[in-house]
Amino acid sequence: MKNGIRSFLAIAKHLGTAILHPTKVGSLFPSTRYVARAIIRELPKGHAHLVEFGPGTGAITGKLLEALPLQGTLTALELNTAFKPSLDRFHDPRFTVLFQDVLTALPEIKRKHPQGVDAVVSGIPFSLIPIPIREKIVAATAEVLRPGGRFVVYQSTRLLVPLFREHFAEVKVAYEVRNVFPYFIITGTRS
Ligand SMILES: C[S@@+](CC[C@H](N)C(=O)[O-])C[C@H]1O[C@@H](n2cnc3c(N)ncnc32)[C@H](O)[C@@H]1O
Repeated sequence: MKNGIRSFLAIAKHLGTAILHPTKVGSLFPSTRYVARAIIRELPKGHAHLVEFGPGTGAITGKLLEALPLQGTLTALELNTAFKPSLDRFHDPRFTVLFQDVLTALPEIKRKHPQGVDAVVSGIPFSLIPIPIREKIVAATAEVLRPGGRFVVYQSTRLLVPLFREHFAEVKVAYEVRNVFPYFIITGTRS
């Protein structure tokens, strides 16, 4: 399928799903390639094993796969099966998607990667998630990272920064304006 048609269909699928499930999707449009690049800049050097929370139509997923070495893995955790056809387009043996809530799926990630993964990238709408669940997700994510591993979150607010400071040795905030709406890219590095 031509890229223009694929992008149009992805935007339509994302927008339609966001209208049906506004509090779960949390944005009207898929992220731009500028956001994807800003996220990739934050990944640890030599990364091989990644997890993605909330891939949606795969706007970030495709770029993460491009940046992944041949022996790498990317496991995506997505709540909404409406995005399955979009994610099935990645015919890539390094890529797996589990249609589960992140909190339910994280123990499976821990079993699969007992030494910890290099990074977790998240687009889930933390600001719409109740505070106790938000805290559990951040704590459980820190647990699946290897020492020096990173949790990279893209969000419209800096809301997670204080919580990140509780769980990570180092916290960095970047800003990418070329997105509807602009995103903060918050990176926590495990000690
Ligand atoms: C803002 S969209 C991001 C989509 C895509 N990554 C992008 O940047 O265009 C958030 C995505 O997170 C998913 N999501 C929300 N809560 C989730 C949860 N608890 N577990 C797994 N996925 C979740 C939604 O279904 C949606 O696909």
